[in-house]
This record gives sequence, structure tokens and C-alpha cells, in this order.
Amino acid sequence: MATPHVTKAVIPAAGLGTRFLPATKAQPKEMLPVVDKPAIQYVVEEAVRAGIDDILIITGRGKRTLEDHFDRNFELEYYLAQKGKETELAEMKALAEMADIHYVRQGEPLGLGHAVSVARKHVGDNPFVVMLGDDIMVDDGVVLTEMIDTYAHYGRSVVALSEFPASEISAYGCVDPEVISDDLVQVRGIVEKPAPEDAPSNLAVMGRYVFTPEIFDALEQVRPGVGGEIQLTDAIAVLLASQTVYGWVFRDGRYDIGKKLDYLRATVELALEREDLGPDFRDFLVELLDKRGLR
Ligand code: UTP
Repeated sequence: MATPHVTKAVIPAAGLGTRFLPATKAQPKEMLPVVDKPAIQYVVEEAVRAGIDDILIITGRGKRTLEDHFDRNFELEYYLAQKGKETELAEMKALAEMADIHYVRQGEPLGLGHAVSVARKHVGDNPFVVMLGDDIMVDDGVVLTEMIDTYAHYGRSVVALSEFPASEISAYGCVDPEVISDDLVQVRGIVEKPAPEDAPSNLAVMGRYVFTPEIFDALEQVRPGVGGEIQLTDAIAVLLASQTVYGWVFRDGRYDIGKKLDYLRATVELALEREDLGPDFRDFLVELLDKRGLR
């Protein structure tokens, strides 16, 4: 039987964003602007670039601005039309028509695994992508496309992996890999936030996943784990007992904007890439480095 196409993405965006307080006290971290776009818009654009046209965003309390962002705003459109601001008008309309975007509320932020489990009704018996709403990939959607291609080849779940120094691995879900090629591993085991001495490798799971629908059965078996949260990592460990899981290793281009330093890095890199802002911003950075004696 042919492997079904991956057309759906689930974007969990219901977390409390405590690492980015006070900015996230009254606004979702997924709406923090990186240059001039909220973080979650980069994530949705990446999904669309990888051929996804059905997106389910998992939201929660205080996340209404997120829905407004992808909705039409007739008052604004009328104003822009009146002022002859055609470019901005076209941009606002395109934003609302980018993809078929749905929302479901998580109710209580019980953990990433729990957030994914509330997508079950929408996703049904289909393979789907999970993209963390606060993880930005500066890669034109290449990693996600390669992961979807890997799923199409094997018909099995694929998680994105990145190398981390031993001192940082304890902050992530860490895999025990069997190397297949430079970019591909088979996942033999997976553990959430291991102590550095218990980490099975230096490869950590990062923000992008392609899942077979069996992950939902696995999630039902998972009890609260590290931090009292329902961990997606624990569900992947359960899934491993019945299905092979692959890991796609990528080298760079990912920013966790829920972390202040990564947020700053993403802002600088994305601003430098912009045709309209990049050259002036570059000059400013060079001048600043000179002024501070950093070059
Ligand atoms: P994080 O662990 O980065 O989100 O989850 P958090 O809990 O909001 O962060 P801190 O540690 O308090 O700063 C990764 C993604 O999963 C979502 C978050 O919104 C984020 O996009 N998430 C997390 C949920 O949707 N629900 C949850 O219960 C937890």
C-alpha cells in the first residue's frame, strides 16, 4: 500500500512561556515579533513551503491574538485601501489565505505530549507533522521537506535531531542512535532531559516531527514524567516498542525563540537576510562592534 501524503501540521502554542517573562505575561511567546513578523508566522510559512495546507494550532488561555493574526481584518483592509497602501493590503490578505488554519484549545498546559494529544480528532488516521510554535528554522523549509520525504520512503515516524555539547544535552530529549547515513539515524531509545552521564548520545530532539497516527495511542499510555508534564518524548519511547522511528540530523538554522539569547540571535540573522533592512543593519552592526572594541 502506498504511504499516505503528509498534508496536516499541528503547531502546539499553548505553553506559558515562563522563560521569556515578563514579555509573555500578557501575550503569547509565539506572537513575539522577530524583525516584523510574529514567530508563529515563520512556522506557518515553513509548513506551507513544505507542502502542508491544513494547520491545527493548539492554543490556550490568553492566546486570542494568535487567531486574530491569521484572520481577516476588514477594518484594517478598508483603511489600507483608502490610503492606497496596496502592498500592505495584499500582504494582509495573503496572510489570511496562506493555509487552512484551525484552532483547538488545550485547556490546561499539561505538557507538549498532552498538547499533541488534543489534535487526535482533527488529525484522524493520517500521518502528520508537529512543529513547535516557538522554534524557527532559517532554512527555507528544507529540513521539514527532507523529513517528510524520509517518512514517504519508510512510512515511519521521523524526528529532527541536532548535536549538542554534553553540558547542554540535559535540557532536551536525547536519543540512542544507530547511524544509517550522514543525515539519518534509526532511533533505538529516547529519554527526556537525562543527566549528562546518562545521556545516550549528543543528539537531541528539536522542534520538528513527522508522526504516524499510532503516536496518539502511545500518548494515551503516557503518565506525567519530567516536570510533572505529559512528555512527547515518553510517547515516542512507547511508540518505539511497536514501530521503527527515524531521526533526521540537521546542522544549523534553528532558533528557540522562547529562550532570550536565541531570540536575539534569530532577530539579528533574519534582519541581516532582509533585502530592505539587511545592508543598513549590517553597517550598524559593524560600526557598533568597532565602537565597543569587539572587532
Ligand atoms: P516549551 O517547553 O518551550 O514551552 O514547549 P513553555 O512551557 O511555554 O516554555 P517555558 O519553559 O515555560 O518558557 C514547546 C512548545 O510546546 C507548546 C509551547 O507553546 C511551545 O510552543 N506547549 C508546551 C503547549 O502547547 N502546551 C504545553 O502544555 C506545553
